[in-house]
Amino acid sequence: MLNLQHNVVNILYAIKGMIEAHMSRFEEGRFSGRDEALSRSREVMKRVYAQAELALLITKKISLAMSASNNRNEPAHPISIRKAWDAVRKMLGETYPGNRFEIINHIPHEFPRIFCHRNDLVEILYCLADNAIQALEGKGKLIIRASLGFRSEGEAIANIVLADTGPGIPEETLTRLFEPFMTTKSLDKGNGLGLCLVKGLVRKNGGSISVSSFRGSGTTFTLAFPVAGGRSPKEMKDYAMTG
Ligand SMILES: Nc1ncnc2c1ncn2[C@@H]1O[C@H](COP(=O)(O)OP(=O)(O)O)[C@@H](O)[C@H]1O
Ligand SMILES: [Mg+2]
Repeated sequence: MLNLQHNVVNILYAIKGMIEAHMSRFEEGRFSGRDEALSRSREVMKRVYAQAELALLITKKISLAMSASNNRNEPAHPISIRKAWDAVRKMLGETYPGNRFEIINHIPHEFPRIFCHRNDLVEILYCLADNAIQALEGKGKLIIRASLGFRSEGEAIANIVLADTGPGIPEETLTRLFEPFMTTKSLDKGNGLGLCLVKGLVRKNGGSISVSSFRGSGTTFTLAFPVAGGRSPKEMKDYAMTG
């Protein structure tokens, strides 16, 4: 999946490059006349069109891959949030060596396990933490917290909260946050597919995600997943110990 996203980014770079090169030829008056300018423009448009078609095909593949995994119905094994977070911490350490931000971990040792595919949870937490760290720009805190809750139907859920003390998200961006290709970053830093993928993975695992933020007051993502072991607190406690 990440490979496919990478391809889309490359295609967008290629399109941008083609248009830029053509525009600068135009501005420098390098065409002999109107006819040459027109026929060259037509060529460029054809190439841009072909690349755009390819990018669309890839995005279709991404959504197909996501719905296919939705339908696969492969049961998730109970997993430990702490262990998934440890893997994410390790990856973050490699991506951001010598980090200058603080990570605060409030995942209790005895916390119950949840139903989620391990690699999916690692990818979800990594995408969210990566966004937070980029927003922190080297100063501030990233906080992860796990707590238990109950849905009104009585089902036990685990909440994972990932909060940062970054600049927050303006209202106009917040409403479009999970849309594909929604990004405020330059092309070398982001492609706007992270949160779209996160949403797909969360849903696939029977979870939910919400975000709250305000300009200047940081950002908080809240994930909810079914707790392994069913509905009663006693059952949850039993599962917790086998972590
Ligand atoms: N923790 C955060 N703090 C501030 N802005 C955020 C945060 N997380 C996401 N965003 C905003 O949401 C946008 C979309 O995020 P994402 O889908 O991961 O794409 P990308 O990171 O490639 O831009 C980001 O460009 C950024 O503007
Ligand atoms: Mg991102």
